[in-house]
Amino acid sequence: MSLANNAGPFLLREEIVQGTGLNLRVLHISDIHFAPSHKNKAGFLRELAQLKPDLVVNTGDNLGHSQAINPLLQALEPLLEFPGVFVNGSNDYSSPKLTNPLRYLMGPSKVESRARDLDTPRMLREFENAGWLNLNNQTGQLRIKDQVIDFVGVDDPHLNLDKTPKIQSSNLIAVAHAPYLRVLDSFADLSAKMIFAGHTHGGQICLPGSRALVTNCDLPTKQAQGLSKYKDSWLHVSAGLGANIYTPVRVFCPPSATLLTIS
Ligand SMILES: [Fe+2]
Repeated sequence: MSLANNAGPFLLREEIVQGTGLNLRVLHISDIHFAPSHKNKAGFLRELAQLKPDLVVNTGDNLGHSQAINPLLQALEPLLEFPGVFVNGSNDYSSPKLTNPLRYLMGPSKVESRARDLDTPRMLREFENAGWLNLNNQTGQLRIKDQVIDFVGVDDPHLNLDKTPKIQSSNLIAVAHAPYLRVLDSFADLSAKMIFAGHTHGGQICLPGSRALVTNCDLPTKQAQGLSKYKDSWLHVSAGLGANIYTPVRVFCPPSATLLTIS
């Protein structure tokens, strides 16, 4: 599927998931790391609404600049018309700081006590006012195409904020920013049919063929992006749409969003 003009370097990937019993077209966006200067990215995000997804899953790290919230909301405005769910990443709380561009190759980034200098409550409020479900350590439910779908999510595991709620459902979708194995285990224990996550940037600095060297967490590199199985659940990890504005380097790993056709 192709989108109209203004897509810049951003890719739309497509995945097919079968055997879940669900019937959904899900647009998965993640790691936007938005800054006011990101005109092409804003255009790409707005054009994604042409896909008319049944559900938007946003796995966090929306913000990449202290002045990003207003232009981010403008860029997401068309997608906020669709049912959606979201969780936070660390960059939804704190503005970016200067880091070594090769940090991604030096193992998981440290959990730091960065100041929470962003107006995160306002961003969450705008998402919620549009009808998106806030899944930060919460559960929720949506009726989509005559299906009742339950959701469970956690606040950012990279900041150790995750606390998986208990929920029993035969139609469960689970959402987290950083796909740490402890979180994936907790979702698999709840028999989630699908798990969505971001955070890895697909490895960000990859070998040819998008082969990741790191995941910035304890997820194996072969699962750094795309679709895989985690125990009995399907796992989709987005390669994301951005990076820290001070390290805007992505090698063999273009920024992307993914449309998943789930049946
Ligand atoms: Fe990120």
